Amino acid sequence: MDNYEVKYHQQKRITCQLMHALARVADENGRYTREHSERVALYSMEIARRMGKSRQEQYEIYQMGLLHDIGKIGIPDSITAKAECLQEDEYDLMKKHPMIGAKILQDITEIPGLAVGARWHHEKFDGSGYPDGLVGRAIPEEARIIGLADAYDAMSSERNYSGVMNQKKVREEIERGKESQFDPEIADVMLQMIDDDKNYVMNSEVPTYIIEEYFTRMKN
Ligand SMILES: [Fe+2]
Repeated sequence: MDNYEVKYHQQKRITCQLMHALARVADENGRYTREHSERVALYSMEIARRMGKSRQEQYEIYQMGLLHDIGKIGIPDSITAKAECLQEDEYDLMKKHPMIGAKILQDITEIPGLAVGARWHHEKFDGSGYPDGLVGRAIPEEARIIGLADAYDAMSSERNYSGVMNQKKVREEIERGKESQFDPEIADVMLQMIDDDKNYVMNSEVPTYIIEEYFTRMKN
């Protein structure tokens, strides 16, 4: 490897490490357990893999997942880390985080998808989401994937105000969401992932194959 290549790979690693650092900033004051953004990124990448996306597309979705909640750094800790359910005015404030995130990421023109994931991951298939109320396939596909991964993680991980939902219930919620919140085709991919996760460990021990894929990408 010549000097240029060494520098190139070093720059790639620095970019990756900076993204993880930013994701931790977003998670640090949140109500979810730590590593929420990492799990959402990995679930999103796995959904994309199962949908037949190219390795490059899978990796971009991974990056988008990693920074999808970066806008939470613009919301007071008293709201993002609140143990109880949010009051209406607090929820209104919380709903600003997608736009804040999109603003933070808008100048990263080398990966325009980052701002896309941040802005539209709370849109719902039936148009009842935010911030823009986009309907169906008007919601960028990557954001539909991240939105599903995010919902799965919200249900399957420890939150301050409620415990971990059992896997059967999580499955039912996603099945039910096919009629409103989720893209039905992407939901089917997630349901298959749940069915493959026989011992309900995906939420705590990220499957080895995802990790292997991830490190292969980091090396290349
Ligand atoms: Fe979010």
